[in-house]
Amino acid sequence: MDFGIKNRLSRIFSPRTGRTVMLAVDHGYFQGPTTGLRDFSNIIPLIPQADCLFVTRGILRNIIDPRTGAAICLRVSGGPSILGELSNEDLITSMEEAIRLNASGVGMSIFVGAKNEDRTISNLGRLINEANRYGMPVLAITAVGKDMGKDARYIGLACRIAAEIGAHIVKTYYCPGFEKVVEGCPVPIVIAGGKKMPEMEALRMTEEAVRAGAMGVDMGRNIFQSDSPMGMIKAVRAIVHKGATAEEAFGIYRKGVKSAAVPAPDGNMEKV
Ligand code: R5P
Repeated sequence: MDFGIKNRLSRIFSPRTGRTVMLAVDHGYFQGPTTGLRDFSNIIPLIPQADCLFVTRGILRNIIDPRTGAAICLRVSGGPSILGELSNEDLITSMEEAIRLNASGVGMSIFVGAKNEDRTISNLGRLINEANRYGMPVLAITAVGKDMGKDARYIGLACRIAAEIGAHIVKTYYCPGFEKVVEGCPVPIVIAGGKKMPEMEALRMTEEAVRAGAMGVDMGRNIFQSDSPMGMIKAVRAIVHKGATAEEAFGIYRKGVKSAAVPAPDGNMEKV
């Protein structure tokens, strides 16, 4: 691996712990203004807690402060909306654009076992060929459709394919037996959070994934749809970077809920 790729990876993965808390806020690229991501006012205060922001160029250009300290990983695939065939994605953002936006990585989805499987995997190959010319790490996301399983055999298959094609990082979903998935994948894996679940469950999943060898998270809804997004991102950070247990992290989240509920002197609710 050359200097450029290593240097960019060291912006995504903290050189202190080798792990990362990526905040995923790209959902609008197919879901539109989804819950928790309507106007980004609740996202901006969370950004300093993230090592990396996973985001589209539209949001980056229009909403994110260019002085941000968080690394940027740019979602570069898209096409269909939630109303269409999700796997029918193509590459929609160029490498030149990623470099112009000073991205530390680019990410796209592959749909293993779904319609358009072969095309999304060849898209990944094309993206990696292009990215390697410029020293740009590629994050491959193993999308899981409604009809696809979520067991270690299937997730392990999808992650290994992504790594074999040349992805530098793989994002996938946690499943029981995750050590097997990690064992079969020669590049770092981060987990997505998936649909919003009770905070304790999300923290437990994070702890189990990290114990099984995940190098962090690229998490969205379980942070920004929480009643305390700040409490939740700090709790997830404690697990990923400090080895906190889910119970310890839950205490951090609870503190966030309490302080979010404290009225500020001006009568408005004080931000955590
Ligand atoms: C899918 O829409 C995106 O790739 C998200 O970035 C990914 O699913 C992670 O977000 P969440 O934790 O909400 O699943």
